[in-house]
Amino acid sequence: MIGRFSFELPTRIEFGQGVSSAVADVLGDLGGKRPLVVTDKGVINAGIFEKIKDYLEGKGLEYLVFSSVEPNPKDRDVMNGASEAEAFGADSIIAIGGGSPIDCAKGIGVIVTHGGKIRDYEGRNAVTKETLPMVAVPTTSGTGSEVTFSSVITDTTDRFKFSIRHPRIAARVALCDPELTVSMPPMLTAATGMDALTHAIEGFTAKPSEPVADACALHAIEMIVKYLPRAVNSGDDMEARSAMLMGSVLAGISFSHSDVASVHCIAEALGGMYDAPHGMCNAVALAPVMRFNMPFCVDRYARVATAMGLSFKGAKEGAEKAVEKVEGLAADVGLPPFSSLGVRDEDRETIAEYSARNGSNSSNPRPMSKEDYLELLDLMG
Ligand SMILES: [Fe+2]
Repeated sequence: MIGRFSFELPTRIEFGQGVSSAVADVLGDLGGKRPLVVTDKGVINAGIFEKIKDYLEGKGLEYLVFSSVEPNPKDRDVMNGASEAEAFGADSIIAIGGGSPIDCAKGIGVIVTHGGKIRDYEGRNAVTKETLPMVAVPTTSGTGSEVTFSSVITDTTDRFKFSIRHPRIAARVALCDPELTVSMPPMLTAATGMDALTHAIEGFTAKPSEPVADACALHAIEMIVKYLPRAVNSGDDMEARSAMLMGSVLAGISFSHSDVASVHCIAEALGGMYDAPHGMCNAVALAPVMRFNMPFCVDRYARVATAMGLSFKGAKEGAEKAVEKVEGLAADVGLPPFSSLGVRDEDRETIAEYSARNGSNSSNPRPMSKEDYLELLDLMG
């Protein structure tokens, strides 16, 4: 019996090589005439912004670039971007990048239309009006932020990553152009790809999951496991880049309608405290959390194993093989173990406390207290 659920995807997805060239027309469809372009140094240094700039100027669009978004975007980035948007009189946003610029752009859209401070909008119910129309152009295959309703921002006062969640903050159009992901170096490809895999596995096993989120997650898992090593080893393999971007989009749709869970709770605690790359934090936590959750979702992990193309006899063996596959994949693509993050012993209490306080903690298939997180951190090394 399928339980009651609701599915809404306010983001139009345009997918395929070269679709980013339509950015000005797509913005025009939304009524945007004066966009704030939100991006970061990585996108500019990779030469991706140059391409988009040509597309915008070719159509005579006036825009302002805000490119000082930091990794793990901070509250100050959102407030600075909003001030610039207001001074320029921006009527729309084009977000170009990985999760950091896109999440920051969502926050800017909220502040320009709602006022106040960005932490005021933490949670699921604080966004009360439409926000600035936004076109998202992903340049990594991991975040899924181009299709999600969530934005994760670091509060720099207490070094805590908080989430803003509402369908109104979603991009109106996502221009998913695999060509823009080709310049990612191997380590970024690996870390962002493991983020996407985490979205899919957590989206599939989180308590609020529903059939559409499940379907997206399982297909994402299949694509990511098959193509991530290829994308890491040969960056210009367009078939692999295209499959990874699609896997990341599907994983984003999945967790946005379901939720993430304890892997992200730990990853966000680590990201907030150490400013560590999000994908790396997920990659080190994914297998240990799966093992910890195992007694509570053996059957679901066995279905993950099937999506990974693994054969097994019973559900227990399948679940075990799924975890081993994740461990093997993280090692194959060159991601370091947990110990490489340099977590200080004296910080473990805070990491556990922040993880338990995360808005997605209650979605984990295994109930998780602060003590459970401390036990888990001990198991991680
Ligand atoms: Fe993530």
